[in-house]
Amino acid sequence: MSQLPNPLEHRTADHPILDLFLKRWSPRAMSGETIPDADLMTLFEAARWAPSTYNEQEWRFLYATRDGEHWETFLGLLMEANQAWCKNAAALIVGLSCKTFSRNGKPNPVHTLDCGMAVENLLLQGATMDLVCHAMAGFDRSKARVALNIPDDYDVEVMIAVGRPADTDVLPEDYQEMDQQPSGRKPLSEIVASGPFAF
Ligand SMILES: Cc1cc2nc3c(=O)[nH]c(=O)nc-3n(C[C@H](O)[C@H](O)[C@H](O)COP(=O)(O)O)c2cc1C
Repeated sequence: MSQLPNPLEHRTADHPILDLFLKRWSPRAMSGETIPDADLMTLFEAARWAPSTYNEQEWRFLYATRDGEHWETFLGLLMEANQAWCKNAAALIVGLSCKTFSRNGKPNPVHTLDCGMAVENLLLQGATMDLVCHAMAGFDRSKARVALNIPDDYDVEVMIAVGRPADTDVLPEDYQEMDQQPSGRKPLSEIVASGPFAF
């Protein structure tokens, strides 16, 4: 039995930040248990309070729980490589963003950014609740649009797996190692410059 590692024992920040940023990570080992609807709503509530351009709140979230009628539809949207571990999730979420402003119908250049902010809120909230919350781009957007009746003025942005953590041996063998080592980060010098672009 190999327990999921505690990311706080593997990650160090170079400057002082809240532990929460280090604690949030994207493991794959989940137990296959359900989680209460109230916990799911807490995740969405965190997303709800994200900032957005003109307070547009153009994110939308669709979800399926493993014991609900839409589970197979949502699971079937994922690439096989993601299905292999997401089958043990408690919930699967699809994140959308409206591409146009509600005020005037003009294109909103930051709809994806705003949705990303809401998604990060959700992921951080999940970390405080010791849930696995794992964002994914590996799914079929066109299939999602049709299967979930998503209108053309919404972009399909992301899927998120949510579940209770489990020992890594629930994973197919080639995934077990990935969950043993929480990822690191580039140094600030590679991502931050004072003044013009200097990378
Ligand atoms: C938009 C987005 C898409 C991602 N897509 C996938 C995916 O399809 N499958 C997967 O296993 N992980 C996916 N990830 C997880 C990343 O690989 C992970 O966030 C990254 O390696 C950093 O590790 P950490 O989240 O544990 O800190 C995705 C993450 C984001 C933010």
